[in-house]
Amino acid sequence: MNRFKDASILITGGTSGIGLATAKRLSGEGARLLLTGHSADHIDAARNALPDATVIANDASDPDSVEALAEAAASFAPGGLDGLFLNAGYGAFESLGDIDAAHVDRHFDLNLRGPLLQARALADRIGDGGAMLLVGSATVGGARADTLVYSASKAALRQAVRSLASEFAPRGIRVNMVTPGLTETHFHTRGGMPDDAQKTYKEKVAGMIPLGRIGVPDDVAKVAAFLLSDEAGYVTGAELRVDGGLTMA
Ligand SMILES: NC(=O)c1ccc[n+]([C@@H]2O[C@H](COP(=O)([O-])OP(=O)(O)OC[C@H]3O[C@@H](n4cnc5c(N)ncnc54)[C@H](OP(=O)(O)O)[C@@H]3O)[C@@H](O)[C@H]2O)c1
Repeated sequence: MNRFKDASILITGGTSGIGLATAKRLSGEGARLLLTGHSADHIDAARNALPDATVIANDASDPDSVEALAEAAASFAPGGLDGLFLNAGYGAFESLGDIDAAHVDRHFDLNLRGPLLQARALADRIGDGGAMLLVGSATVGGARADTLVYSASKAALRQAVRSLASEFAPRGIRVNMVTPGLTETHFHTRGGMPDDAQKTYKEKVAGMIPLGRIGVPDDVAKVAAFLLSDEAGYVTGAELRVDGGLTMA
C-alpha cells in the first residue's frame, strides 16, 4: 500500500513504542515525517531508524513548547500538514494513598493539556481535509484502583476528541482516537514499574485477553495508519480499541 505518498505527517512521541512503529509504517507508505521526542537517546535512535524523517526535541508537557512545535511544523510542511498524531503520553500506576499534586499534574500536563494546546497551535498548520489522531487507554471505563489518575487523564482526552471532531469538521479535518490495550513498549518502565512486576503484570493481563497475547506496537500502528488515511475518510469522533478484545464486554 502507498496510502501516504508525499503526505506530511507530524507524530508527537514518535521516538519510541507506538509512535515510532506508526512512523515506520507511514514512512514505508511514502509519508514525510516530523517526529518529536523527549530523551536524547531515543531521538538519536529514531534518527538512525528513519534517516529521512525530521526528529526534534519538544516537551509536550510544557505549554511554552507549542509555539516551537508550530514553527517546526511550518518549516517542515509550508503547504500544511496532512496528518497529526498526538501520541506522546505517560502513565504511572498509583492508588489514591500514593498520589500527590505532582503525580496528578504530570499526567494531566502531558496527556490532556499537551495535545489540547498542540491542537490549538497547529490548527492553522493542518490542511483542510487532513486528519488528527489522539491516543486513549483501555484502562478507561475500568475500575482499577491503581490507574486512578492515568485513566482520568485519558478519559478526559477521550471526551475532548468529540469536541475537537466538531471543531474541525467544517474544514473536513477528521479527529479520532486509537485506544491501545496493554502493549509492549517503554511505557511501563517509564512509569516506574520494576521489570519483575512488569513480567507478572503482563502475564496476568495476557491471560485475560481473548486473543491470548498482549499487543505489540505495530498492532496499534496499523490501526493508527488506517485512521490517518483516506480509507477512514468518513470516520470522525470515533474511538477504535486495539486491545485483543480485553474491553469488549
Ligand atoms: N503501552 C501501553 O500499554 C499503552 C496502553 C494504552 C495507551 N498507551 C498510550 O500510548 C501512547 C504511546 O505510549 P507508548 O506505549 O508507545 O510508550 P513509550 O514507548 O514510553 O513512548 C512514549 C513516547 O512519548 C514520548 N514522550 C514522553 N514524554 C514526553 C514529553 N514530555 N514530551 C514529548 N514526548 C514525550 C517519548 O519520547 P522519548 O522516548 O524520546 O522520551 C516516546 O516517544 C501514550 O499516549 C500512552 O499513554 C500505551
